Amino acid sequence: MHEKSIELLNRAVADELLAVHQYMYFHFHCDDQGYELLSALFRRTAIEEMMHVETLAERILFLKGEVEMIPGGEVQKLKSVREMLELACSMEESSVKDYNLWANESSANADANTKKLFEQLVDDEERHYDQYDKEIDNLEQFGSQYLALQSIERSKRMAMPPGTGA
Ligand SMILES: [Fe+2]
Ligand SMILES: [Fe+2]
Repeated sequence: MHEKSIELLNRAVADELLAVHQYMYFHFHCDDQGYELLSALFRRTAIEEMMHVETLAERILFLKGEVEMIPGGEVQKLKSVREMLELACSMEESSVKDYNLWANESSANADANTKKLFEQLVDDEERHYDQYDKEIDNLEQFGSQYLALQSIERSKRMAMPPGTGA
């Protein structure tokens, strides 16, 4: 009876799993290049996407479905910060588009709680889009200084005596 909802929820799980993998990949590489603030942003967002997987999985199980833990694609091995942020923005944009459509579909299937779940995800994905888009604005405004500042932030922290860091 809830087959359509279960299918949509599993498509969202695939999307979220790919986001977790992609953002963790960006997290490692920003960290490796010394971009501490961006590295933390990708890590924090990956954790939020993991929590989305959990919410979706709980709903699938409630509807007596199986959670298909299959990521929706391959991780793109980008190393340039601008390319990372552009991919992240486009991933969030397509999630917003899909989840809006799937909220409507769930409503048409008379499944109000799945609709509500997709609408909550739209809120989060729009916020994610906005945070990445702001970083692109910063990059455009400050150019290479933007990246240099991120590295300086790390050096300052590493130079602090133990126990005095925030
Ligand atoms: Fe998400
Ligand atoms: Fe997101």
